[in-house]
Amino acid sequence: MAHIQLKNISKTFGNHTALTGLDLDIADGEFFVLLGETGAGKTTTLRLIAGLEKPSEGQVLIDGVDVADWGAAERDVALVLQQYSLYPRYTVRENLEFPLKPKIRRLPDAEIKDRVDRAARTLRIEHLLDRKTDRLSGGEMQRVSIGRAIVRKPRVFLMDEPLSALDAKLREALRTELKNLQIQLGATFLFVTHDQIEAMSMGDKVGVLNHGRIVQTGTPHEIYNNPRDTYVASFVGSPPMNLIDGKVVNGRAVMAPLNFELPFSGRAGTGGATDGRPLVFGIRPEDVYLESGAPVEARVHDVENHGVEKILTLRVGDTTLRATVPARTDVAIEQPVRFAWNPDKVVLFDKGSGVSLRHAS
Ligand SMILES: Nc1ncnc2c1ncn2[C@@H]1O[C@H](COP(=O)(O)OP(=O)(O)O)[C@@H](O)[C@H]1O
Ligand SMILES: [Mg+2]
Repeated sequence: MAHIQLKNISKTFGNHTALTGLDLDIADGEFFVLLGETGAGKTTTLRLIAGLEKPSEGQVLIDGVDVADWGAAERDVALVLQQYSLYPRYTVRENLEFPLKPKIRRLPDAEIKDRVDRAARTLRIEHLLDRKTDRLSGGEMQRVSIGRAIVRKPRVFLMDEPLSALDAKLREALRTELKNLQIQLGATFLFVTHDQIEAMSMGDKVGVLNHGRIVQTGTPHEIYNNPRDTYVASFVGSPPMNLIDGKVVNGRAVMAPLNFELPFSGRAGTGGATDGRPLVFGIRPEDVYLESGAPVEARVHDVENHGVEKILTLRVGDTTLRATVPARTDVAIEQPVRFAWNPDKVVLFDKGSGVSLRHAS
């Protein structure tokens, strides 16, 4: 178990900057998800913690100790990768034993057997122990890779998109299993992914990484409801938050140019919302609703059926926005409808910087 801190980490490769001024604080026993698009710097961050790369600047601390001079082995962290690297001609049991059989510090046989059996039980792969790993399915192979990490009883688990090579159904099942596993082990997990659903459903805390910088760290609830900027607002959530250009006139949101206007409440973070300041109004699709008496008229531009709900694209002048409505809502394309939004759920962003007015102080 361990407390991981990254302090003002920067990492450059030649003249390419992968990470800039990165601060992270991962509490002991926490499931921390680092969320970012491809190239954001996720793998580099894991490799720095694992001791496979050196930072150009800044410090990595494990349990308060600067580990700059520690090699990968001394750091005692386990890295699980997207591509499982199992030994194909060996059995699952042998694959699980390998990490426990280095020439130096070899564990007693009884201890090895005990750890392997325990890990197999935890991951429900006991029935596979005598099978060669090239005869396993993708999900089984990934379980064995995770097993190879568990048997070592590392201080920290670093997981680099371990589920992204699996098909959707299996990915969902393993998400739950991994989360349960982490709770059961009480271990510190740093899980990286580009998949916002994975991040939001698994993380105790989520850090959003954009171009090598942490944009926001918080609980999934904070990230979803109070995104720091328009990048986070549009990255997290499916469909993403509607972002509509506009300004405030006499305390109302007026969408440019003259498309529609609606009220919003003080909870939107109205401190800096002076009349005429160029803003972006953010509203989640589930906070937009259709009602016959609602103030704004729109046309139904598109309808997507998603079983329990429909996602409508509404068109008002040259603005479109999405609304999540119950599946029973009967609408046809080009039909006129009326809508409003929940004024408490509106988030205001500065048009220039993209930063939420709730976050800018
Ligand atoms: N060894 C390396 N040499 C040069 N550039 C690298 C190296 N490793 C990573 N990079 C660059 O650093 C950036 C971040 O990479 P990476 O950490 O792999 O991102 P992610 O895992 O989020 O996709 C990318 O632009 C990548 O091309
Ligand atoms: Mg990567």
